[in-house]
Amino acid sequence: MTTYITTPIYYVNAQPHLGHAYTTIVADTYSRYRRLCDDMVFFQTGTDEHGDKIAEAAAKQGKKPQEYVDHISGVFRDTWKSLKITPDNFIRTTDNEHIRTVQYILQKVYDNGDIYFAEYSGLYCKGCERFLTEKELVEGNCPDHQVPPEEITEQNYFFRMSKYQQQLIDHIKANPDFITPERYRNEVLSFLSEPLEDLCISRPTSRLTWGIPLPFDNNFVTYVWFDALINYLTGIGFPDGPDFTRYWEVAEHLIAKDILKPHAIYWPTMLMAMGVQPYARLHVHGYWNVDETKMSKSIGNVVRPDELVDQYGRDALRYFILREMSFGLDASFGHDAIIARKNSDLANDLGNLFSRSLAMLQKYCDGKIPVSDGDEEDSDKILRTTAEKMLVDFRHHMDRFEFHRALQAVWELISQANKYIVVNEPWALVKDENKIGRLHTVLYNLVDSLRLITLTISPVMPETALSMMKSLGLEDHRDLVLSFERGGRWGVFPVGCETIEAAPLFPRVDVKKEKKKVQPVKKAGKKQVKGADEGLITFEQFKKVELKVAEILSAERVEASERLLLLTVMAHEKRTIVAGIAEHYRPEDLIGLQVVLVANMKPAKIMGIRSEGMLLAAREEENGKERLVLTTVSASVNNGSIVA
Ligand code: MSP
Repeated sequence: MTTYITTPIYYVNAQPHLGHAYTTIVADTYSRYRRLCDDMVFFQTGTDEHGDKIAEAAAKQGKKPQEYVDHISGVFRDTWKSLKITPDNFIRTTDNEHIRTVQYILQKVYDNGDIYFAEYSGLYCKGCERFLTEKELVEGNCPDHQVPPEEITEQNYFFRMSKYQQQLIDHIKANPDFITPERYRNEVLSFLSEPLEDLCISRPTSRLTWGIPLPFDNNFVTYVWFDALINYLTGIGFPDGPDFTRYWEVAEHLIAKDILKPHAIYWPTMLMAMGVQPYARLHVHGYWNVDETKMSKSIGNVVRPDELVDQYGRDALRYFILREMSFGLDASFGHDAIIARKNSDLANDLGNLFSRSLAMLQKYCDGKIPVSDGDEEDSDKILRTTAEKMLVDFRHHMDRFEFHRALQAVWELISQANKYIVVNEPWALVKDENKIGRLHTVLYNLVDSLRLITLTISPVMPETALSMMKSLGLEDHRDLVLSFERGGRWGVFPVGCETIEAAPLFPRVDVKKEKKKVQPVKKAGKKQVKGADEGLITFEQFKKVELKVAEILSAERVEASERLLLLTVMAHEKRTIVAGIAEHYRPEDLIGLQVVLVANMKPAKIMGIRSEGMLLAAREEENGKERLVLTTVSASVNNGSIVA
């Protein structure tokens, strides 16, 4: 089979951040996964380099646009290298080949009569690089960029997008997987239930020169969407490259929800006008926020992937973002969360399993893979069936872009293998010479589990998988960790391979040290209290916090979050609280509980819900895993009672 996967091409007016890294890591992981399925894969990413925003950013730095875009495009390319992202093609909209393809398509669509010249007045958002409709505005502002769009009247060229509206609706309805997850398909269909306007595709050269000249009128350039979307064709040799048809038939685009409309509406209608069939699938994911707040330059909370690589390592970062985000929904980045995942899932669960198993092999078998005696006891059967189920579940979820679920499936095997060691006690078996056969079976089953773990984590954590493969002595049998066809089965670890005891896969993060590193810098000018009183507060200060007893009346999960519960509590009055305890409590277990509420907390919007206070909870940390236990009262009291 063949796979063609693309990311958006990123604007070069800003440096890469966690959001760009997420999409590109997903595409890289998916392409590595498809290679494990023996697919022929083409993975493309790149940079979008024309338009107002870029020209302005270059001017601000006193640079010529070309010099400026060369530099930032290089930063993107280097960042992907540092994340072990290996695209087959890195496309730039300033590449000559791309410019030629865009002009070829413009001419073709113009000749067919689907591009026309007209005067237009509209509300233009520079951030989105497109005209917005009145309906899209929120309180007069662009919902994404929070600034009012500019009213522009201009003569321009337009693409007759409206002509293809019905054809597009029919296509989406006939192809349920065309846009996934389903919520975005529904969003597009709902948008298409209103008449579609035509799309402005040009700018007069009197206002913007940093674009691609229209082949039929050199007083105008095309830029951004008509330019950028075509990259998906240029990269695979449209119109007559030898591989074009093979790749285009299976083209899968990956984007975040911000650019749903250009990809789900502009792009397929443009393709229809060119006489090219629409791409096969569009996968849409949510936003990464930071500590529940939108990532933005002005707030100063933009997370840089290279800094995270330095702090936590590239594989830990790749694992974290794929494990933490449910594809399609928003997720929140926090240093606590990445540290917890690294210490618990990686260092504890996977790292310990790996080093314990290899150490036992060294000690009891000189590092050589022993022959299993072939008898299957209950614990062997459980381990084998868990591994076999993992292989099925893993592929099922990877095919559906459910990366967090695919990883959960692998971690079920890791946890089962850890239990297997405890149940079988190899250190006791070695002491009884009648049980050496059994010891060999146990060790064989463990390394075969590790081999399957290596195979399945390799798309997500390629470096870790490589070092696991080497330590397992599989360098001469790479296929067993590089192909589902040849290695995706239980019991095929070659006997006699020599394993090597290796350094820990994931050194644990010193929580205190790391947290200190990411503490916000204290504002200058504030006097720090030094000495014995440091960190103490006065009774007056304490009195400012109003604590009250509140009873939980209802609890439910917040739809888009794995962490949050939506609670209704009764203090003297009813309040809505959004609490980050979903991983620690089942909603039904909370009803009727009397807890302690910080009643004079400023209300805050969390995931779009107003939260009117905060609940107190004890936080325990063990083995890098956090546990939250709500603070309650030791006997029933009236709701609303003051806690002092
Ligand atoms: N140049 C256009 C895309 C043209 S594609 C033919 C563009 N560029 S962009 O630099 O703004 O990139 C947008 C994309 O970056 C999103 O669709 C997503 O892939 C990624 N992300 C940017 N911010 C993000 C988050 N906060 N969270 C998740 N992904 C985000 O639009």
